[in-house]
Amino acid sequence: MLQKYNPKNENIHIYVGGELLPRDQAKVSVFDSSVQGGDAVWEGLRIYNGGIFCLDLHLDRLFASAKALAFEHIPSREIIIQAITQTLKKNGMYDDAHIRLTLTRGEKVTSSMDPRVNTKGSCLIVLAEWKPLVYDNEKGIRVISSSIRRNSPQFLDSKIHHANLLNNIQAKIQANFSGVDAAIMLDDDGFVSELNDTNLFLVKGETLFTPHADSCLHGITRGLVIQIAESVNIHVIERNLSLTEFYTADEVFATGTMGELTPVVEIDGRKIENLTGSNVMENLMTAFKELISEKCYKLNY
Ligand SMILES: Cc1ncc(COP(=O)(O)O)c(C=O)c1O
Repeated sequence: MLQKYNPKNENIHIYVGGELLPRDQAKVSVFDSSVQGGDAVWEGLRIYNGGIFCLDLHLDRLFASAKALAFEHIPSREIIIQAITQTLKKNGMYDDAHIRLTLTRGEKVTSSMDPRVNTKGSCLIVLAEWKPLVYDNEKGIRVISSSIRRNSPQFLDSKIHHANLLNNIQAKIQANFSGVDAAIMLDDDGFVSELNDTNLFLVKGETLFTPHADSCLHGITRGLVIQIAESVNIHVIERNLSLTEFYTADEVFATGTMGELTPVVEIDGRKIENLTGSNVMENLMTAFKELISEKCYKLNY
C-alpha cells in the first residue's frame, strides 16, 4: 500500500538545527553526516490527542543509539521536548500526526567518513506530518519473505536505531515488485527477524510467539504488546521462529508506532488460516487502545 499524500503537509513547518522553517526552506547541509554516510539516529513518534505515545521510551532509545555511535553535543531531553512542542504548536497538530525525529552527527568541515571532522555537534530535526496509521488494520497486510537479511550484532547492532536503512529499503523494494505491503527479513541463521518496518508476532493455540530481539529492532510497541499479554496471562515465548511456523500460525500480526497492531493475512502466497478461532490479536489491540492515553506524554501547548 502506497502511503497517501496529505496536501495539508505542503504548509508544514519543520525544526532543523534550532530553527523552525517552512517545508521548502528546511534543509541540511550537503556536508551533513546524514547525507555523507546515513550517519544519523531516529525515532518515529505518534501524536494522540495532544500527547506523544511512549515519548520517554523513544527518547531513551534515541539517546542510547546516539551514545553507541559516539555522537557529540547531544541535545538534552528538555531541549528535544521543547523542539517537539514548538513544532507541533506551530503546525497546530494535536492528533492524527506523526513525527520523524532525527538526530544526525551534524555537519562536517570536509567530506569524510571520520567523525573527527564533525566540528559543529549534532543536528536535531523534528519533521511532523499529518499522517493516519500507515496500514489498514481492518483488512490487514500481505507480505513476502525477502532475500535481504536483517543485520545481526556481528554486522550492525539493531539495538542502534540508525538511519542507515538500506537493507530494509532493499527488502521493501522486493515487496513493491511483488505487489505486497511489506517484506519479512530473516536473520543470518534464516530465522524470521521482523518486517522491513515493523516487528512480528504469531499466535498458535493461544500462545503468543515473537522472535528474539537480536536482529530485529527492540520495538517499543513490541515491548508493550508483550507486557499487555503477560498482564492478562497470555503465555509469551520469545524464541527463534522459522517461516514455516509463520505460514502455519493461527494469527500473525505486525507491531509498530506507525501502524499499532496490524494483521498479516498472507505470507509468500500462503493465507494465514485461523484454525482454532483464536482472537488473541483482537484482544491485545483492544487493550492497547485502552492504554494509549495513559502512555501518552502530555505536551504543554
Ligand atoms: C525496522 C523497524 N522495526 C520495527 C519498528 C517498530 O518499532 P516501534 O514499535 O518502536 O515503533 C520500527 C520503527 O521504527 C522499525 O524501523
